[in-house]
Amino acid sequence: MISGAAKLAGVAGWPVAHSLSPALHGHWIVEYRLDAAYVPLAIKPEDLSSAVAALPKLGFRGLNVTLPHKEAAFRLVDERDEAAEATGAVNTIVFEGGRVLGRNTDVFGFVESLREGEVASLTGRTVAVLGAGGAARAVIAGLLSMGAARVNLVNRTADKARVLGAFFGERVSVIEWSSLSKALSGSVLLVNTTSLGMAGQPPLAVDLTPLPVDAAVADIVYRPLETGLLAAAKARGLKTVDGLGMLLHQARPGFAAWFGVEPAVTPALRSSLIRLLEAR
Ligand code: ATR
Repeated sequence: MISGAAKLAGVAGWPVAHSLSPALHGHWIVEYRLDAAYVPLAIKPEDLSSAVAALPKLGFRGLNVTLPHKEAAFRLVDERDEAAEATGAVNTIVFEGGRVLGRNTDVFGFVESLREGEVASLTGRTVAVLGAGGAARAVIAGLLSMGAARVNLVNRTADKARVLGAFFGERVSVIEWSSLSKALSGSVLLVNTTSLGMAGQPPLAVDLTPLPVDAAVADIVYRPLETGLLAAAKARGLKTVDGLGMLLHQARPGFAAWFGVEPAVTPALRSSLIRLLEAR
């Protein structure tokens, strides 16, 4: 039960009903017995600016920002962290001393999911990324921050990949989808950031044979948890990282900033989110 002094935060999206964030933060609020509430905030794109101005006046400590607001939030905030600058998107807002601080914790979430999956060091190594949308930006920023020497970027629309490649600089090489095997050979990690393989979307058909035998495969899709890509990687004996880890870990910095507790991603939290996903 919350008191009149409860700490408040939430997630802004349009629509927002599908968001797993209230369940995720709610789990931690119960686990750490906090006097706090984290609520869904259905905010239309044209109302984001006035909502962000009003929320601190209503006592909110901050909020998460999800589709379609991440780029608009980037433009709205007073300050941005390095990850926000590297991605052009803000997914976490902290109200502090009258200022609106914008962060991108998707980068941290992705990096932490690889650490949790015990993916071998990427320092000086080559990796391959499929897709060139918003998620790819966070993934590439994370891979470069982990010391990857080269990112082979492959996207159906090569022009979009070239724009992203130009943004990140010479460590990103754009390779045509038709030359996918070239992008995979020598890559110690393959990351899918496209929506292919997601429930209701076409499957992602990739021949993993060119990957080295000690490579890992990560998918940011988490519905289903084991995508066709991850199943194929497992069948080849490759290490895999599913998309739920990124979702869980990206939530940690916001929770810590708003509620003052560093939350842990535990097997119990994972199971409860998996149950929720399975019930949908
Ligand atoms: P997000 O913000 O989640 O990354 P997005 O910006 O819509 O979402 O990006 C979706 C990614 O999935 C893009 O890289 C897209 O490729 P295009 O840039 O060519 O559109 C990729 N994608 C979606 N459907 C695809 C399909 N049927 N085949 C190949 N790539 C696909």
